[in-house]
Amino acid sequence: MKLLVTGGAGFIGSNFIRHVLQAHPEDRVVNLDKLTYAGNLQNLADVAQDPRYGFVHGDIGDAKLVRDVARGVDAVVNFAAASHVDRSLIEPEEFLKTDVFGVYTLLEAVRELRIPRLLHISTDEVYGSVPQGSSRETDPLRPANPYSASKAGADLLVGAYWQTYRLPVLITRSSNNFGPCQYPEKVVPLFITNALDDQPLPLYGDGRNVRDWLYVLDNCEAIDLVLRRGAEGQIYNIGGGHEVENIVLTRQILRLTGKPETLIRPVKDRPGHDRRYSLDSSKVRQLGWRPRHRFDGALEATVAWYRQHEPWWRPLKSGEFRTYYQQQYGDR
Ligand code: NAD
Ligand code: DAU
Repeated sequence: MKLLVTGGAGFIGSNFIRHVLQAHPEDRVVNLDKLTYAGNLQNLADVAQDPRYGFVHGDIGDAKLVRDVARGVDAVVNFAAASHVDRSLIEPEEFLKTDVFGVYTLLEAVRELRIPRLLHISTDEVYGSVPQGSSRETDPLRPANPYSASKAGADLLVGAYWQTYRLPVLITRSSNNFGPCQYPEKVVPLFITNALDDQPLPLYGDGRNVRDWLYVLDNCEAIDLVLRRGAEGQIYNIGGGHEVENIVLTRQILRLTGKPETLIRPVKDRPGHDRRYSLDSSKVRQLGWRPRHRFDGALEATVAWYRQHEPWWRPLKSGEFRTYYQQQYGDR
């Protein structure tokens, strides 16, 4: 297969490209990425010289460029997005541009060029907060922040292109990922790197919001399976099956880093903070997927990765990040 992966220099996309090149020696991958603050070519330094891999710098909202790079591919897998909820509360515009208009641009290219498959990567956040039970793919969308509303907008657009044009689209909606190469604004790498530096861990609200944690390599396997075996027009939830309150996760990170609980700093809650996400993943499990990594071991491996890759994350926590972080937590 020849794949166009968009947003492949980010966290999940880079892990996915590595997975594809390892699992499918006959595949070729072109990575189209804008290299925003979250995109990092170091994430793919080990495959940069692989003749099966190529990189193009650009925006998924650039219709001409997208048509040029998409011509002749067997499938497009779209990871490109503005992805951090807290940033969407400060500057939502980029979220609408990339997460909605960018997806429209991809859909139009797939339609015009008659590309055989488009897999769009979405999120459990589109269902909104789930007080009880677990979200199924047919549940209504109730997004509660500009990020999840933009992602929901894209999901509806993808669904409309299936209904209207029978465009060969698929969607995955996964729960919270963690693992190597995650930008240190997200809670797991932020708390690990803050703990390693003996800095406070800013825990929002009462710390009892629940997220369902999924190791990124398990998500990559599920995405790959859906890409190759999923049915057109279908949506697949991908949940880790490990729901924990943030305070429990925080204590576990402190234990693994060998740091005291006095580093926990309760701060003002995130506005519109969804209380709980939970996915029913029986549909993707019927395709033959289940997470292969146990949560405890995967979190331990993630802490070890950040310990061993300080030169990767240290520069990311200065400059632009420092300004953002002060803006974010200064008044909390
Ligand atoms: P990330 O922020 O780490 O990476 C996003 C990548 O997209 C970056 O490389 C960035 O440079 C690129 N990008 C941004 N705007 C672009 C544009 N206009 N054109 C081309 N490239 C652009 O994000 P991530 O955590 O890897 O998430 C990847 C996808 O998975 C996103 O669509 C996100 O909504 C979804 N998702 C993430 C999680 C999670 O826990 N991280 C969970 C569920 C779904
Ligand atoms: O659920 C999937 C989503 O997971 C993805 O669609 C998003 O792209 C991804 O960013 C992530 O969103 P969350 O908002 O759940 O992740 P985040 O790491 O920002 O926060 C996880 C939880 O931790 C959430 O309840 C807020 C809390 N938190 C977060 C940060 C950054 C804190 O308590 N303190 C913090 O400093």
